[in-house]
Amino acid sequence: MFKKILNNFQKGNTAKDTNDNKFADIKIDASRLPRHTAIIMDGNGRWAESHGLIRTAGHTQGVRTLKEILKIAIDLPLPVLTVFAFSTENWKRPHAEVDFLMHLFSDYLAEEINEIDEKNVKLHFLGRIDELSPALRNQARDAEKQTMNNTGLIFNVAMNYGGQDEITRAVQKIAAKIESGEIKSTEIDSSYIENNLDTAGLPPVDLLIRTSGDFRISNFLLWQAAYAEFWFTDVNWPEFTPEVFMKAISDYGKRDRRFGGLTDKK
Ligand code: FPP
Repeated sequence: MFKKILNNFQKGNTAKDTNDNKFADIKIDASRLPRHTAIIMDGNGRWAESHGLIRTAGHTQGVRTLKEILKIAIDLPLPVLTVFAFSTENWKRPHAEVDFLMHLFSDYLAEEINEIDEKNVKLHFLGRIDELSPALRNQARDAEKQTMNNTGLIFNVAMNYGGQDEITRAVQKIAAKIESGEIKSTEIDSSYIENNLDTAGLPPVDLLIRTSGDFRISNFLLWQAAYAEFWFTDVNWPEFTPEVFMKAISDYGKRDRRFGGLTDKK
C-alpha cells in the first residue's frame, strides 16, 4: 500500500491520486525519507490509566502499535528503525512492572521472529543485553543470528539501553585498545568512536519521534541524534497510528537541515 503511495510521489503525484483515503492529505517526498528513524514509545501507562486500566495493559497495547509501525517501516521502505523498549533507568520501576515487560519482550520475540525474518528484517539489539535474564538474552541473540543475513529494514530494539552508558562502554573498549598498544590515542576520531557504539555501521539518526507530550531525549541515542530532527506528538504510544507516523515522516521531508552550515534553499 505504501509502496504504491511512494511510486505515485515519484511520478510527481500526491496521495490524493491514490484510492487510499486514509493517507489522502499526507504528502511524502520519496527522495527525503529518513535514513534512520528512532522512536521513544512513551505514554503506555498514561494511556492505560486514562482508560481505567492497569499500567501494564498499556504496554500490551503498545506492542500492537509497534507491530503496525514496523509494517509501515518495511513497506515504505525505511532503511533503519530503532525503538526504545527499556532503559537502564527503567529498573527503578516496581518489580511487577519490570517483570511484566521482560515477559512481554520474550513473548513478542517468540511470536514475531519468524514473520520478522520472512519480511527480510535484520533484528539487532542495543544496550546491555548480557545483563538480562539468561533466557531473554539467549532469545535476543538467537533472533539476531536468525536474521543476520537479511537485507531489508534494520530494526534495532534498545533494551537495558542508556546513551551515556553506551558511550561509557565505547570509551572503555577504546581505552583497553590503547592500554594493549593496539592503537594510539591520536588515532581516535569521531568515526572511530562511532564504530565502537552499539550502532556501529549504521547512519546517524535523522528523525527522532517522541510520543505522549514530553520534550526530552531521556538518554536515548545521545551520540547518534546529534543532528536529528525532533518530532513530538501528544498522542500516547498505544494510540500512535500509521497515519500519525506517516505525518512525522512527511514533516521530516520538509525540514531544512543545515548541520551547522547554511541552508541550501537560499
Ligand atoms: C513507556 O511508557 C514505555 C516503556 C517503558 C516500554 C516500552 C515498551 C513497549 C512499547 C512494548 C513493546 C516493545 C517491544 C520491544 C515488544 P511509560 O510506561 O513510561 O508510560 P507513562 O510515561 O505514561 O508512564
